[in-house]
Amino acid sequence: MPSWLKDAVFYEIYPQSFYDSDGDGIGDIPGIIEKLPAVAELGCTALWINPCFDSPFKDAGYDVRDYYKVAARYGTNEDLYRLFETAHGMGIRVLLDLVPGHTSEEHPWFRESRKAEANAFSDRYIWTDFWLKGIAGRPYIGGESPRNGTYMLNFFKCQPALNYGWYAPAESWQKTMDDPACLATREAIKNVMRFWMDRGCDGFRVDMADSLVKNDTPEKTGTSMVWRDVREMMDREYPECALVSEWGNPVQALKAGFHMDFYLDHGGNGYNTLLRDYEIGGPDRSYFRCGAGGRIQRFLQDYLPRYEASKDYGYISFITCNHDTPRARRTLGERELKLAYACLLTLPGVPFIYYGDEIGMRYLEDLPSKEGGYTRTGSRTPMQWGSGPLYGFSAGTRAMCPPEAACADDAAPGVRPYLPVDPAPDAPTLEAQKADPASLYNAVKDVIALRHRFPDLQADGDFSVLSAADGQDTFVYRRGGLVLAVNPGPAEEAVPGIRVSEPLFVIGKAAASDGGILAGPQSFAVFRAG
Ligand code: NOJ
Repeated sequence: MPSWLKDAVFYEIYPQSFYDSDGDGIGDIPGIIEKLPAVAELGCTALWINPCFDSPFKDAGYDVRDYYKVAARYGTNEDLYRLFETAHGMGIRVLLDLVPGHTSEEHPWFRESRKAEANAFSDRYIWTDFWLKGIAGRPYIGGESPRNGTYMLNFFKCQPALNYGWYAPAESWQKTMDDPACLATREAIKNVMRFWMDRGCDGFRVDMADSLVKNDTPEKTGTSMVWRDVREMMDREYPECALVSEWGNPVQALKAGFHMDFYLDHGGNGYNTLLRDYEIGGPDRSYFRCGAGGRIQRFLQDYLPRYEASKDYGYISFITCNHDTPRARRTLGERELKLAYACLLTLPGVPFIYYGDEIGMRYLEDLPSKEGGYTRTGSRTPMQWGSGPLYGFSAGTRAMCPPEAACADDAAPGVRPYLPVDPAPDAPTLEAQKADPASLYNAVKDVIALRHRFPDLQADGDFSVLSAADGQDTFVYRRGGLVLAVNPGPAEEAVPGIRVSEPLFVIGKAAASDGGILAGPQSFAVFRAG
Protein backbone atom coordinates (compact mmCIF):
# COMPACT_ATOMS: atom_id res chain seq x y z
CA MET A 1 0.00 0.00 0.00
CA PRO A 2 1.58 3.33 -1.01
CA SER A 3 1.98 5.17 2.29
CA TRP A 4 1.17 8.57 0.76
CA LEU A 5 -2.46 7.54 0.42
CA LYS A 6 -2.97 7.84 4.18
CA ASP A 7 -2.97 11.60 3.97
CA ALA A 8 -4.04 12.03 0.35
CA VAL A 9 -6.83 14.34 -0.77
CA PHE A 10 -7.44 14.04 -4.51
CA TYR A 11 -8.58 16.65 -6.99
CA GLU A 12 -10.24 15.44 -10.19
CA ILE A 13 -9.48 17.49 -13.29
CA TYR A 14 -11.53 17.26 -16.46
CA PRO A 15 -8.74 18.58 -18.69
CA GLN A 16 -10.85 20.10 -21.43
CA SER A 17 -12.51 22.42 -18.89
CA PHE A 18 -9.80 23.31 -16.42
CA TYR A 19 -7.56 25.98 -17.90
CA ASP A 20 -6.96 26.89 -21.52
CA SER A 21 -3.39 28.16 -21.72
CA ASP A 22 -3.24 28.64 -25.49
CA GLY A 23 -6.54 30.32 -26.26
CA ASP A 24 -8.11 27.59 -28.40
CA GLY A 25 -11.09 27.24 -26.06
CA ILE A 26 -10.06 23.83 -24.72
CA GLY A 27 -8.21 23.27 -21.48
CA ASP A 28 -4.77 21.71 -21.77
CA ILE A 29 -1.86 20.23 -19.86
CA PRO A 30 0.27 23.38 -19.73
CA GLY A 31 -2.89 24.95 -18.28
CA ILE A 32 -3.01 22.33 -15.53
CA ILE A 33 0.67 22.99 -14.78
CA GLU A 34 -0.01 26.70 -14.53
CA LYS A 35 -2.84 26.11 -12.06
CA LEU A 36 -1.07 23.58 -9.83
CA PRO A 37 -0.48 26.25 -7.17
CA ALA A 38 -4.28 26.57 -6.83
CA VAL A 39 -4.57 22.82 -6.23
CA ALA A 40 -1.77 22.96 -3.66
CA GLU A 41 -3.28 25.98 -1.95
CA LEU A 42 -6.56 24.15 -1.46
CA GLY A 43 -4.56 21.41 0.27
CA CYS A 44 -5.00 18.66 -2.32
CA THR A 45 -2.07 16.31 -2.60
CA ALA A 46 -2.97 14.29 -5.68
CA LEU A 47 -4.70 14.62 -9.04
CA TRP A 48 -6.87 12.34 -11.11
CA ILE A 49 -6.88 13.58 -14.69
CA ASN A 50 -9.62 12.30 -17.01
CA PRO A 51 -8.34 10.68 -20.24
CA CYS A 52 -5.86 12.92 -22.02
CA PHE A 53 -4.80 10.53 -24.77
CA ASP A 54 -5.20 10.69 -28.52
CA SER A 55 -8.87 10.09 -29.28
CA PRO A 56 -11.66 10.98 -31.70
CA PHE A 57 -13.48 12.25 -28.56
CA LYS A 58 -16.80 10.57 -29.12
CA ASP A 59 -16.88 9.83 -25.41
CA ALA A 60 -14.79 12.73 -24.14
CA GLY A 61 -11.58 10.70 -24.45
CA TYR A 62 -12.85 7.41 -23.00
CA ASP A 63 -12.47 6.21 -26.58
CA VAL A 64 -8.69 5.94 -26.76
CA ARG A 65 -7.01 5.79 -30.16
CA ASP A 66 -3.43 5.78 -28.89
CA TYR A 67 -2.64 4.94 -25.27
CA TYR A 68 0.90 6.18 -25.70
CA LYS A 69 0.23 9.66 -26.98
CA VAL A 70 -1.22 12.77 -25.38
CA ALA A 71 -4.09 14.22 -27.45
CA ALA A 72 -2.79 17.12 -29.52
CA ARG A 73 -5.49 19.39 -28.14
CA TYR A 74 -4.03 18.93 -24.65
CA GLY A 75 -0.37 19.27 -25.63
CA THR A 76 2.46 16.78 -26.01
CA ASN A 77 3.85 13.84 -24.08
CA GLU A 78 6.63 16.18 -22.96
CA ASP A 79 4.01 18.49 -21.46
CA LEU A 80 2.63 15.57 -19.47
CA TYR A 81 6.10 14.57 -18.26
CA ARG A 82 6.60 18.18 -17.21
CA LEU A 83 3.29 18.04 -15.33
CA PHE A 84 4.50 14.96 -13.40
CA GLU A 85 7.74 16.68 -12.53
CA THR A 86 6.25 20.01 -11.54
CA ALA A 87 3.53 18.35 -9.50
CA HIS A 88 6.03 16.16 -7.69
CA GLY A 89 8.09 19.23 -6.88
CA MET A 90 5.00 20.56 -5.10
CA GLY A 91 4.23 17.30 -3.29
CA ILE A 92 1.35 16.44 -5.64
CA ARG A 93 0.93 12.95 -7.18
CA VAL A 94 -0.72 12.43 -10.54
CA LEU A 95 -3.07 9.59 -11.49
CA LEU A 96 -4.01 9.17 -15.13
CA ASP A 97 -7.23 7.57 -16.35
CA LEU A 98 -6.77 4.04 -17.65
CA VAL A 99 -9.45 2.70 -19.97
CA PRO A 100 -8.68 -1.02 -20.14
CA GLY A 101 -12.07 -2.39 -21.21
CA HIS A 102 -12.37 -0.87 -24.68
CA THR A 103 -10.63 1.35 -27.18
CA SER A 104 -11.88 3.67 -29.86
CA GLU A 105 -13.05 1.94 -33.02
CA GLU A 106 -10.22 3.97 -34.61
CA HIS A 107 -7.49 2.29 -32.55
CA PRO A 108 -4.94 0.51 -34.79
CA TRP A 109 -5.58 -2.74 -32.86
CA PHE A 110 -9.22 -2.60 -33.89
CA ARG A 111 -8.38 -1.65 -37.47
CA GLU A 112 -6.36 -4.86 -37.62
CA SER A 113 -8.91 -6.91 -35.73
CA ARG A 114 -11.69 -6.11 -38.16
CA LYS A 115 -9.76 -7.43 -41.16
CA ALA A 116 -10.93 -10.64 -42.85
CA GLU A 117 -7.42 -12.12 -42.78
CA ALA A 118 -6.37 -13.57 -39.43
CA ASN A 119 -3.62 -11.53 -37.74
CA ALA A 120 -2.06 -10.89 -34.33
CA PHE A 121 -5.02 -8.67 -33.31
CA SER A 122 -7.89 -10.81 -34.55
CA ASP A 123 -8.80 -11.83 -31.00
CA ARG A 124 -7.79 -8.60 -29.25
CA TYR A 125 -11.54 -7.80 -29.30
CA ILE A 126 -14.58 -10.01 -28.85
CA TRP A 127 -15.95 -11.31 -32.15
CA THR A 128 -18.52 -13.93 -32.99
CA ASP A 129 -17.69 -16.28 -35.83
CA PHE A 130 -20.50 -15.45 -38.25
CA TRP A 131 -21.77 -12.15 -39.59
CA LEU A 132 -25.37 -12.86 -38.54
CA LYS A 133 -24.54 -14.24 -35.09
CA GLY A 134 -25.18 -11.77 -32.31
CA ILE A 135 -24.17 -11.77 -28.65
CA ALA A 136 -27.09 -12.52 -26.36
CA GLY A 137 -27.79 -9.80 -23.84
CA ARG A 138 -24.87 -7.65 -24.99
CA PRO A 139 -24.63 -4.74 -27.42
CA TYR A 140 -22.87 -5.73 -30.62
CA ILE A 141 -22.31 -4.47 -34.14
CA GLY A 142 -22.55 -6.28 -37.43
CA GLY A 143 -22.16 -5.30 -41.05
CA GLU A 144 -19.35 -2.80 -40.58
CA SER A 145 -16.24 -4.80 -41.29
CA PRO A 146 -14.82 -7.18 -43.87
CA ARG A 147 -14.51 -9.83 -41.17
CA ASN A 148 -17.18 -12.53 -41.01
CA GLY A 149 -18.47 -11.85 -37.50
CA THR A 150 -20.05 -9.32 -35.17
CA TYR A 151 -18.16 -7.57 -32.37
CA MET A 152 -19.12 -6.69 -28.82
CA LEU A 153 -19.38 -3.14 -27.56
CA ASN A 154 -18.44 -2.11 -24.05
CA PHE A 155 -20.27 1.21 -23.91
CA PHE A 156 -21.01 3.45 -26.91
CA LYS A 157 -20.95 2.26 -30.51
CA CYS A 158 -17.45 3.73 -30.86
CA GLN A 159 -16.06 1.52 -28.04
CA PRO A 160 -15.46 -2.14 -29.01
CA ALA A 161 -14.77 -4.41 -26.03
CA LEU A 162 -11.23 -5.64 -25.53
CA ASN A 163 -10.93 -9.37 -25.05
CA TYR A 164 -9.93 -10.60 -21.58
CA GLY A 165 -11.84 -13.84 -22.10
CA TRP A 166 -15.04 -15.35 -20.77
CA TYR A 167 -15.26 -16.78 -17.31
CA ALA A 168 -17.26 -19.75 -18.52
CA PRO A 169 -17.16 -19.85 -22.33
CA ALA A 170 -20.36 -21.24 -23.79
CA GLU A 171 -19.65 -20.82 -27.49
CA SER A 172 -16.64 -21.78 -29.58
CA TRP A 173 -15.80 -18.11 -30.36
CA GLN A 174 -15.69 -17.24 -26.64
CA LYS A 175 -12.10 -17.49 -25.40
CA THR A 176 -11.04 -18.63 -21.96
CA MET A 177 -9.21 -16.14 -19.76
CA ASP A 178 -5.94 -17.98 -20.24
CA ASP A 179 -6.17 -18.05 -24.02
CA PRO A 180 -2.94 -16.52 -25.41
CA ALA A 181 -4.95 -13.76 -27.13
CA CYS A 182 -6.62 -12.74 -23.84
CA LEU A 183 -3.32 -12.86 -21.97
CA ALA A 184 -1.85 -10.68 -24.73
CA THR A 185 -4.59 -8.08 -24.15
CA ARG A 186 -3.75 -8.05 -20.46
CA GLU A 187 -0.02 -7.68 -21.14
CA ALA A 188 -0.68 -4.90 -23.64
CA ILE A 189 -2.55 -2.92 -20.99
CA LYS A 190 0.13 -3.63 -18.37
CA ASN A 191 2.67 -2.24 -20.82
CA VAL A 192 0.61 0.93 -21.22
CA MET A 193 0.64 1.30 -17.44
CA ARG A 194 4.39 0.69 -17.28
CA PHE A 195 5.01 3.27 -19.99
CA TRP A 196 3.36 6.06 -18.02
CA MET A 197 4.61 4.99 -14.59
CA ASP A 198 8.17 4.83 -15.98
CA ARG A 199 7.74 8.45 -16.97
CA GLY A 200 6.52 9.68 -13.62
CA CYS A 201 2.81 8.96 -13.35
CA ASP A 202 1.75 7.80 -9.87
CA GLY A 203 -0.95 5.35 -10.85
CA PHE A 204 -4.36 5.18 -12.42
CA ARG A 205 -8.05 5.64 -11.99
CA VAL A 206 -9.41 2.59 -13.80
CA ASP A 207 -12.49 2.93 -15.96
CA MET A 208 -15.24 0.27 -15.68
CA ALA A 209 -12.77 -1.87 -13.76
CA ASP A 210 -15.30 -4.55 -12.86
CA SER A 211 -16.26 -5.48 -16.38
CA LEU A 212 -13.19 -6.95 -18.11
CA VAL A 213 -14.00 -10.66 -18.11
CA LYS A 214 -17.34 -11.44 -19.74
CA ASN A 215 -19.94 -13.77 -18.34
CA ASP A 216 -18.22 -13.40 -14.98
CA THR A 217 -19.64 -14.68 -11.68
CA PRO A 218 -21.63 -12.23 -9.52
CA GLU A 219 -18.51 -12.08 -7.32
CA LYS A 220 -16.48 -11.02 -10.40
CA THR A 221 -14.10 -13.92 -9.91
CA GLY A 222 -12.52 -13.69 -13.37
CA THR A 223 -12.10 -9.93 -13.48
CA SER A 224 -10.64 -10.02 -9.96
CA MET A 225 -8.02 -12.53 -11.11
CA VAL A 226 -6.93 -10.11 -13.84
CA TRP A 227 -6.56 -7.25 -11.37
CA ARG A 228 -4.72 -9.35 -8.79
CA ASP A 229 -2.20 -10.10 -11.51
CA VAL A 230 -1.91 -6.37 -12.28
CA ARG A 231 -1.52 -5.58 -8.58
CA GLU A 232 1.32 -8.07 -8.28
CA MET A 233 3.06 -6.24 -11.09
CA MET A 234 2.46 -2.93 -9.31
CA ASP A 235 3.72 -4.22 -5.97
CA ARG A 236 6.83 -5.65 -7.59
CA GLU A 237 7.68 -2.88 -10.02
CA TYR A 238 5.87 0.27 -8.81
CA PRO A 239 5.12 -0.13 -5.09
CA GLU A 240 4.52 3.61 -4.62
CA CYS A 241 1.93 3.83 -7.40
CA ALA A 242 -1.79 3.60 -6.67
CA LEU A 243 -4.93 2.26 -8.33
CA VAL A 244 -8.48 3.47 -7.78
CA SER A 245 -11.33 1.62 -9.40
CA GLU A 246 -14.59 2.59 -10.93
CA TRP A 247 -16.23 -0.51 -9.50
CA GLY A 248 -18.62 0.66 -6.80
CA ASN A 249 -18.20 -2.45 -4.69
CA PRO A 250 -15.25 -1.91 -2.38
CA VAL A 251 -15.30 -5.39 -0.89
CA GLN A 252 -14.83 -6.91 -4.33
CA ALA A 253 -12.58 -4.21 -5.76
CA LEU A 254 -10.16 -3.98 -2.83
CA LYS A 255 -9.87 -7.75 -2.57
CA ALA A 256 -9.13 -7.75 -6.30
CA GLY A 257 -6.11 -5.55 -5.63
CA PHE A 258 -7.28 -1.96 -5.94
CA HIS A 259 -5.99 0.41 -3.27
CA MET A 260 -9.18 2.47 -3.39
CA ASP A 261 -12.67 2.05 -4.81
CA PHE A 262 -15.13 4.86 -5.50
CA TYR A 263 -18.39 5.01 -3.62
CA LEU A 264 -20.30 5.90 -6.79
CA ASP A 265 -23.61 7.72 -7.05
CA HIS A 266 -25.88 4.77 -7.71
CA GLY A 267 -29.58 5.51 -7.29
CA GLY A 268 -30.70 4.76 -3.74
CA ASN A 269 -27.32 3.61 -2.38
CA GLY A 270 -25.87 5.11 0.77
CA TYR A 271 -23.82 7.77 -0.95
CA ASN A 272 -26.76 8.81 -3.12
CA THR A 273 -28.93 9.41 -0.04
CA LEU A 274 -26.43 11.95 1.29
CA LEU A 275 -26.38 14.44 -1.59
CA ARG A 276 -28.63 13.53 -4.50
CA ASP A 277 -31.75 11.74 -3.32
CA TYR A 278 -34.17 12.88 -6.02
CA GLU A 279 -35.87 11.95 -9.26
CA ILE A 280 -35.29 14.47 -12.06
CA GLY A 281 -37.61 17.39 -11.39
CA GLY A 282 -38.71 16.00 -8.02
CA PRO A 283 -37.80 17.18 -4.53
CA ASP A 284 -34.41 16.30 -3.05
CA ARG A 285 -34.80 14.25 0.14
CA SER A 286 -31.10 13.89 0.76
CA TYR A 287 -29.61 14.00 4.23
CA PHE A 288 -27.73 17.25 3.66
CA ARG A 289 -30.74 19.10 2.25
CA CYS A 290 -31.84 21.15 5.24
CA GLY A 291 -35.29 20.21 6.46
CA ALA A 292 -35.91 17.64 3.71
CA GLY A 293 -36.25 14.81 6.21
CA GLY A 294 -33.36 12.66 4.88
CA ARG A 295 -32.07 10.23 7.48
CA ILE A 296 -28.43 9.38 8.06
CA GLN A 297 -29.45 5.79 8.84
CA ARG A 298 -30.11 5.19 5.16
CA PHE A 299 -26.48 6.03 4.45
CA LEU A 300 -25.17 4.02 7.36
CA GLN A 301 -27.14 0.88 6.52
CA ASP A 302 -25.39 0.75 3.17
CA TYR A 303 -22.01 2.14 4.16
CA LEU A 304 -21.19 0.43 7.45
CA PRO A 305 -21.20 -3.17 6.17
CA ARG A 306 -19.11 -2.09 3.18
CA TYR A 307 -16.66 -0.25 5.41
CA GLU A 308 -16.34 -3.08 7.92
CA ALA A 309 -15.83 -5.72 5.26
CA SER A 310 -13.34 -3.71 3.18
CA LYS A 311 -11.28 -1.68 5.64
CA ASP A 312 -8.53 -4.27 5.99
CA TYR A 313 -7.92 -4.33 2.25
CA GLY A 314 -7.85 -0.66 1.23
CA TYR A 315 -9.92 2.49 1.10
CA ILE A 316 -13.38 3.62 0.12
CA SER A 317 -13.19 6.87 -1.81
CA PHE A 318 -15.93 9.41 -1.26
CA ILE A 319 -16.39 11.88 -4.10
CA THR A 320 -17.90 15.34 -4.02
CA CYS A 321 -19.01 14.54 -7.58
CA ASN A 322 -17.40 13.37 -10.80
CA HIS A 323 -17.68 14.00 -14.53
CA ASP A 324 -20.57 11.49 -14.81
CA THR A 325 -22.66 12.82 -11.92
CA PRO A 326 -24.70 16.01 -11.44
CA ARG A 327 -22.92 18.47 -9.23
CA ALA A 328 -24.37 18.48 -5.72
CA ARG A 329 -24.91 22.22 -6.14
CA ARG A 330 -27.88 21.29 -8.30
CA THR A 331 -30.04 20.90 -5.20
CA LEU A 332 -27.86 22.02 -2.29
CA GLY A 333 -27.00 25.57 -1.24
CA GLU A 334 -23.64 26.81 -0.10
CA ARG A 335 -24.21 26.13 3.60
CA GLU A 336 -25.49 22.64 2.86
CA LEU A 337 -22.47 21.95 0.70
CA LYS A 338 -20.11 23.09 3.45
CA LEU A 339 -21.55 20.51 5.83
CA ALA A 340 -21.69 17.78 3.19
CA TYR A 341 -18.10 18.23 2.09
CA ALA A 342 -16.86 18.62 5.67
CA CYS A 343 -18.42 15.26 6.44
CA LEU A 344 -17.14 13.51 3.29
CA LEU A 345 -13.65 14.87 3.95
CA THR A 346 -13.58 13.50 7.49
CA LEU A 347 -14.86 9.99 6.90
CA PRO A 348 -12.32 7.16 6.57
CA GLY A 349 -10.70 6.43 3.22
CA VAL A 350 -9.34 8.72 0.53
CA PRO A 351 -11.59 11.58 -0.63
CA PHE A 352 -11.84 13.08 -4.13
CA ILE A 353 -12.92 16.65 -4.88
CA TYR A 354 -14.23 17.31 -8.40
CA TYR A 355 -12.82 20.53 -9.88
CA GLY A 356 -15.11 23.47 -9.18
CA ASP A 357 -16.98 21.79 -6.35
CA GLU A 358 -14.79 23.63 -3.87
CA ILE A 359 -16.42 26.87 -5.04
CA GLY A 360 -19.90 25.41 -5.54
CA MET A 361 -20.02 25.46 -9.33
CA ARG A 362 -23.46 24.74 -10.70
CA TYR A 363 -24.73 21.86 -12.77
CA LEU A 364 -25.89 23.63 -15.94
CA GLU A 365 -29.29 22.23 -16.88
CA ASP A 366 -30.22 21.20 -20.43
CA LEU A 367 -26.90 21.86 -22.14
CA PRO A 368 -26.67 20.30 -25.59
CA SER A 369 -24.64 17.11 -25.38
CA LYS A 370 -20.94 17.47 -26.08
CA GLU A 371 -18.65 14.56 -26.95
CA GLY A 372 -21.03 11.93 -25.64
CA GLY A 373 -21.75 13.80 -22.45
CA TYR A 374 -25.59 13.89 -22.66
CA THR A 375 -26.96 14.73 -19.20
CA ARG A 376 -23.39 14.64 -17.85
CA THR A 377 -22.49 17.71 -19.89
CA GLY A 378 -23.82 20.11 -17.26
CA SER A 379 -21.13 18.97 -14.80
CA ARG A 380 -18.30 19.49 -17.27
CA THR A 381 -18.28 23.26 -17.85
CA PRO A 382 -15.21 25.50 -17.65
CA MET A 383 -13.65 26.16 -14.27
CA GLN A 384 -14.55 29.59 -12.94
CA TRP A 385 -11.28 31.18 -11.90
CA GLY A 386 -11.99 34.90 -11.68
CA SER A 387 -13.95 37.87 -12.89
CA GLY A 388 -12.57 38.21 -16.44
CA PRO A 389 -14.13 36.97 -19.67
CA LEU A 390 -15.09 33.29 -19.43
CA TYR A 391 -14.24 33.66 -15.73
CA GLY A 392 -10.57 33.53 -16.66
CA PHE A 393 -10.85 30.03 -18.15
CA SER A 394 -8.85 30.94 -21.24
CA ALA A 395 -5.55 32.75 -21.42
CA GLY A 396 -6.07 33.52 -25.09
CA THR A 397 -5.95 37.24 -25.77
CA ARG A 398 -8.92 36.62 -28.03
CA ALA A 399 -10.86 35.66 -24.94
CA MET A 400 -11.06 39.36 -24.26
CA CYS A 401 -13.81 39.31 -26.86
CA PRO A 402 -17.16 38.33 -25.27
CA PRO A 403 -17.80 34.70 -26.20
CA GLU A 404 -21.34 34.95 -27.44
CA ALA A 405 -21.21 38.39 -29.04
CA ALA A 406 -19.86 39.13 -32.49
CA CYS A 407 -16.36 40.55 -32.33
CA ALA A 408 -15.51 43.81 -34.02
CA ASP A 409 -12.65 42.14 -35.82
CA ASP A 410 -13.88 39.04 -37.65
CA ALA A 411 -10.35 37.76 -37.96
CA ALA A 412 -10.16 37.51 -34.20
CA PRO A 413 -13.44 35.98 -33.05
CA GLY A 414 -13.96 35.47 -29.35
CA VAL A 415 -12.74 32.25 -27.87
CA ARG A 416 -15.48 29.65 -27.83
CA PRO A 417 -14.95 27.68 -24.68
CA TYR A 418 -15.28 23.89 -24.78
CA LEU A 419 -18.68 24.31 -23.14
CA PRO A 420 -20.64 27.45 -22.19
CA VAL A 421 -19.85 29.04 -18.87
CA ASP A 422 -22.40 29.54 -16.11
CA PRO A 423 -24.54 32.52 -17.21
CA ALA A 424 -25.83 33.27 -13.69
CA PRO A 425 -24.95 36.75 -12.42
CA ASP A 426 -23.86 35.20 -9.13
CA ALA A 427 -21.77 32.42 -10.65
CA PRO A 428 -19.11 31.59 -8.06
CA THR A 429 -15.45 32.19 -8.85
CA LEU A 430 -12.32 31.10 -7.09
CA GLU A 431 -11.12 34.68 -6.88
CA ALA A 432 -14.24 35.91 -5.11
CA GLN A 433 -14.46 32.90 -2.81
CA LYS A 434 -10.85 33.20 -1.74
CA ALA A 435 -11.51 36.78 -0.68
CA ASP A 436 -14.54 35.84 1.42
CA PRO A 437 -13.60 34.22 4.74
CA ALA A 438 -17.09 32.72 5.02
CA SER A 439 -17.05 31.09 1.58
CA LEU A 440 -17.50 27.44 0.70
CA TYR A 441 -13.95 27.44 -0.66
CA ASN A 442 -12.51 28.56 2.67
CA ALA A 443 -14.56 25.98 4.58
CA VAL A 444 -13.33 23.19 2.30
CA LYS A 445 -9.77 24.44 2.60
CA ASP A 446 -10.00 24.61 6.40
CA VAL A 447 -11.37 21.07 6.66
CA ILE A 448 -8.63 19.73 4.40
CA ALA A 449 -6.04 21.50 6.56
CA LEU A 450 -7.58 19.93 9.65
CA ARG A 451 -7.37 16.51 8.00
CA HIS A 452 -3.69 17.03 7.29
CA ARG A 453 -3.14 18.16 10.87
CA PHE A 454 -4.80 15.20 12.58
CA PRO A 455 -3.80 11.68 11.46
CA ASP A 456 -6.99 10.49 13.18
CA LEU A 457 -8.97 12.20 10.40
CA GLN A 458 -6.98 10.58 7.61
CA ALA A 459 -7.60 7.44 5.60
CA ASP A 460 -6.76 4.90 8.33
CA GLY A 461 -8.06 6.61 11.46
CA ASP A 462 -10.51 4.50 13.46
CA PHE A 463 -14.15 5.17 12.76
CA SER A 464 -17.30 4.42 14.68
CA VAL A 465 -20.79 5.84 14.92
CA LEU A 466 -21.56 7.53 18.24
CA SER A 467 -25.04 8.81 17.51
CA ALA A 468 -27.47 8.52 14.61
CA ALA A 469 -30.69 8.61 16.57
CA ASP A 470 -34.15 8.30 15.08
CA GLY A 471 -35.89 11.64 15.18
CA GLN A 472 -32.62 13.60 15.13
CA ASP A 473 -30.75 15.15 12.26
CA THR A 474 -27.43 15.14 14.06
CA PHE A 475 -24.90 12.46 13.22
CA VAL A 476 -21.99 12.04 15.63
CA TYR A 477 -18.98 9.91 14.76
CA ARG A 478 -15.62 9.17 16.23
CA ARG A 479 -12.33 9.27 14.34
CA GLY A 480 -9.62 8.01 16.68
CA GLY A 481 -9.44 10.47 19.56
CA LEU A 482 -11.69 13.02 17.86
CA VAL A 483 -15.46 13.35 17.87
CA LEU A 484 -17.28 14.96 14.95
CA ALA A 485 -20.87 16.15 14.90
CA VAL A 486 -22.80 17.27 11.87
CA ASN A 487 -26.31 18.66 12.08
CA PRO A 488 -27.70 19.52 8.63
CA GLY A 489 -31.15 20.22 10.10
CA PRO A 490 -32.87 23.56 10.76
CA ALA A 491 -32.98 23.25 14.58
CA GLU A 492 -30.46 23.07 17.39
CA GLU A 493 -30.17 19.55 18.80
CA ALA A 494 -28.70 18.17 22.03
CA VAL A 495 -26.94 14.83 21.85
CA PRO A 496 -26.44 13.54 25.40
CA GLY A 497 -23.91 11.05 26.72
CA ILE A 498 -20.87 11.98 24.61
CA ARG A 499 -18.07 13.65 26.53
CA VAL A 500 -16.10 16.14 24.49
CA SER A 501 -13.85 19.18 24.92
CA GLU A 502 -14.73 22.58 23.48
CA PRO A 503 -14.66 22.33 19.67
CA LEU A 504 -11.41 22.55 17.72
CA PHE A 505 -13.26 23.56 14.60
CA VAL A 506 -16.81 24.68 13.88
CA ILE A 507 -19.03 25.62 10.96
CA GLY A 508 -22.07 27.36 12.43
CA LYS A 509 -22.48 26.90 16.20
CA ALA A 510 -21.72 23.86 18.32
CA ALA A 511 -20.51 23.34 21.87
CA ALA A 512 -19.85 20.81 24.57
CA SER A 513 -22.65 20.87 27.15
CA ASP A 514 -23.45 18.81 30.25
CA GLY A 515 -21.76 15.63 29.15
CA GLY A 516 -23.06 15.95 25.64
CA ILE A 517 -22.98 17.98 22.46
CA LEU A 518 -25.15 20.91 21.52
CA ALA A 519 -25.22 21.03 17.72
CA GLY A 520 -26.59 24.28 16.32
CA PRO A 521 -28.75 24.39 13.20
CA GLN A 522 -26.75 23.51 10.10
CA SER A 523 -23.52 22.97 11.96
CA PHE A 524 -20.42 20.85 11.79
CA ALA A 525 -17.90 20.53 14.60
CA VAL A 526 -14.76 18.64 15.54
CA PHE A 527 -14.04 18.02 19.24
CA ARG A 528 -11.49 16.09 21.22
CA ALA A 529 -13.04 13.12 22.95
CA GLY A 530 -13.31 13.18 26.77
C1 NOJ B 1 -17.05 5.54 -17.15
C2 NOJ B 1 -16.54 6.92 -17.39
O1 NOJ B 1 -16.45 7.61 -16.17
C3 NOJ B 1 -17.50 7.56 -18.35
O2 NOJ B 1 -17.30 8.94 -18.47
C4 NOJ B 1 -17.38 6.85 -19.68
O3 NOJ B 1 -18.33 7.36 -20.59
C5 NOJ B 1 -17.62 5.35 -19.52
N1 NOJ B 1 -16.97 4.80 -18.36
C6 NOJ B 1 -17.12 4.58 -20.73
O4 NOJ B 1 -15.72 4.55 -20.75
